[in-house]
This record gives sequence, C-alpha cells and structure tokens, in this order.
Amino acid sequence: MRIRRPTQARALLLASCLVISSIATAQEAEQQPLPPAEYLSDVSYTLTTGLLEGRMAFIGVGGAIDGQANPTLTAQPGQIVQITLINGDNVEHDIFVEGFAGADSPTVSQRGASVSIVFRADQEGEFPYWCTVPGHRQAGMEGAFVVGESTAEPQRDLPSIVRPASDVPPPPDHTAGPVRHEVVLETIERDAFLADGTTYRYWTFNNQVPGPFIRVKLGDTVDVVLENPEDSNFIHSVDLHAVTGPGGGAVSTQTLPGDRTGFSFKAINPGLYIYHCATPMVAHHIANGMYGMILVEPEGGLPPVDREYYVMQGEIYTADVFGVPGHQAFSATKLLNEHPEYYVFNGAVNALNDQPLEANVGETVRIYFGVGGPNKISSFHVIGEIFDRVYHEGSLTTDPLEDIHVTTVPSGGTVMVEFAVEVPGDYVLVDHALSRAERGLSGTLVVHGEPNPEIYDGPVNAPAGH
Ligand code: CU
Ligand code: CU
Repeated sequence: MRIRRPTQARALLLASCLVISSIATAQEAEQQPLPPAEYLSDVSYTLTTGLLEGRMAFIGVGGAIDGQANPTLTAQPGQIVQITLINGDNVEHDIFVEGFAGADSPTVSQRGASVSIVFRADQEGEFPYWCTVPGHRQAGMEGAFVVGESTAEPQRDLPSIVRPASDVPPPPDHTAGPVRHEVVLETIERDAFLADGTTYRYWTFNNQVPGPFIRVKLGDTVDVVLENPEDSNFIHSVDLHAVTGPGGGAVSTQTLPGDRTGFSFKAINPGLYIYHCATPMVAHHIANGMYGMILVEPEGGLPPVDREYYVMQGEIYTADVFGVPGHQAFSATKLLNEHPEYYVFNGAVNALNDQPLEANVGETVRIYFGVGGPNKISSFHVIGEIFDRVYHEGSLTTDPLEDIHVTTVPSGGTVMVEFAVEVPGDYVLVDHALSRAERGLSGTLVVHGEPNPEIYDGPVNAPAGH
C-alpha cells in the first residue's frame, strides 16, 4: 500500500493558514454589537466557490441552497446573519453584501480555507452580494440577499447519521503475535436528520457519528489512511489519542478535498482512546461529528462479556434554538460561547431510544463510552443500574473502581463500564447534568426476561415493542 505523505512543513503551513482564518472569523463575530435578546434567533449560510456551466459562481453548501449557483439568501428583518465562504477552487475570492455594516469579508485564497461575515439584517429589501476581486462579479459571482421573505424549507429523505451502539468489531486474536491493520477513514460532509423535522450539515468519519470503532491490541501497528472526497468543502485530518507522535497523526493528515494522506503508528499504550479531526477550527470539526474511539487491548485482552456497546456524547451548535424545524445552520458564536442547542448520543436526538441497547436478564454488559464534545464534561449514568466496574479515564491497566453510580468523563475522554443486568425493563442512559436530557441527550437499554422480585418487586414498565 502506498500512502502519499505531505511534508510536515506543508501540513504545518496549512494548519497555520487555517488558524489565521479561524481567528479572523472569531474576531469578526466579536466585533458585532450584542443583539438584544429577542433577536437571538439567527440565520447562517455556507457558500463555496467554483465553476458552474463555464461561469464563476458562489455555490450553496447544505440545506435548501445545496449545489445552487449564486443562491438567493434570505433573512427576516432584525436577524443576525452569518455567511461562511469556503474557497473551493484555489482562486482568490471574497464576499460583499451591499448595504450592511460588517458584510464584507477578507479574501480567502487557498482551497479549503474559509472566512465568515456576521451582520444584522437591519433593513428590508433585496440587496446584491458579489465577489469584489476584480473581474469576478462580471465573470458570474453575484447573487441576491433578500430580507423579509420566508426562510422555511421542505424536509427531504436523508439516510440516518446514527452509528448503532451495537457496531463494535470482535476482539483481536490474543494468541497471535503483533499484526498490522489498515484503517481507512473517509471524511464525508452531508446533511442528515438531527431530530424529527430538523436537519443539519454533519462532517463525519465514514458517514456516521461517531466514526468507526477501531479495535487493536498492544504491540500492533496501524496504517491510518485519511481520504477526503473530491466533493468535500473543508480540509480534514485525524488525531488519535492512542498515537505516540506529533499531533497524534494530525500533522501527517491535513488533507485537501480530493486528496489522500496517511501515517503508521505502533500501539504502545493499552487503553480506550478518542480520535477526532484536528483541523482548525478544531472545535467546529468535532462539533459537526468528527470523533470516534480506538481501543488498544492490553496483553491477554479484556474479560469476556455478553454484550458490548459503543456510545459517544456530542454537542451541536445550531443557529436556531433547540426544537426549531427545518435545516439548521451552524453557529460559530454559540460554539465559541460553549452554548450548544443540542446534546446527542451517537449523532442525533433519540438515536439510542429508536435503536436501543439490548440485553437479557443474567447477562453482562460493557459500554465503551466517550465524549467527543467538544466542550462539555459528562456525568455518565444509567438510571436504575449500578456499574459493577468503572475503568476510569479509559485506563485498562489500572484496577477498576467498583460499585459506581455516576462517573465523570472529560471532554475528549473515555470510560469503560461493566455491569450485570438482573431485572427486566427499560434503563435510561443519561448525562446526570439532566438539563441536557431536555435537549436530546438520552438513550435506552432494554433488558428482556422474567421478573426478579427478590431484587426488585413492584410494577415495572413493560419493554413492549422491543
Ligand atoms: Cu475535519
Ligand atoms: Cu485531542
């Protein structure tokens, strides 16, 4: 297998360029006057640049404008509008909306780099937007921004973003010596349902959230390949916390759309680790779904259990408040303020209620739990159960804590918990910061079997329908 390796200098240069444009975005957001409370609901659009039918154009990304040349952008009077421009063609561009203070961006010249403008739609009417680089407006880069029309848009059929909790590969063969694995991570950007009636533009590893569960053993070597499809709009990368080496692999994998990179590492510390995209603004890439876990099994492997599950917690920062239907744009301001609207297990609201974890009375259950975040600590708890063993911080070489009800998992951290199930019924997975359950964060473990009155005697919810 051949892996193209970008020089470290190129990767670092890329990373630093992007840091600069991310900082510009943040500063611009900060320069805006704080909107009064009634205007907190805002609207965001993402545009890229390229050629369509032989003419230069702004091209819509995500939602109703996806793929449209010079889409008409709309907002309600008084709304805060964010427009993110992603360079899609390596030609210098910017964006300017006539008539609004702050609605002119710096230029962005490298493919995959981005800038944002944030301004208030403080007058009604139709206003042109265009690229001010000489000649580009005439070459086709012009569209309309309309204040005062409906922003509603229809639902569409979209494949689920949810990786089922049961998607755990079998253990490695511990009777064999060290082996070599190839792990291919494809960085796919796509729309999916975040909740009933609400869609969002996710960024993923291998098309689902979380990314694939990677399972190796101590001493194995892993060839990591990162593929960024041609139709992506952003540079992506991967930092695996199981890696000993610069950036956890991120310096070797800053990957342009249409490109492929990679590196190899030897797993020299057992444990349960997070991996995530590490392209600036890193928190943005993680919030959009770019995280997963890698298990490095210790010598001799883990004790056998009857059921293994893979659950990850994440935050989503949408322009509108929790529960608003339609396509939701990303809010950089809310991300920087650490105010998510949604909290999710495995990518979407109710993902693990619709596809619950299951076990039978008398079985043992192991949950590999991690926090992609990017920002919030989880107080992980299963209502009505006690963890028999908690492998705190994902350490598999430290004796587990025993008889634990709630365990803390830092952002970017993991835990492995094990417990036997003795009583049938529905058990709810939560972060015990329970306000988050009102914003999407809950899952279900359904335990099937005969009642066990010696341990629990009373009416129980019948796990009907499962
Ligand atoms: Cu990324
Ligand atoms: Cu990290």
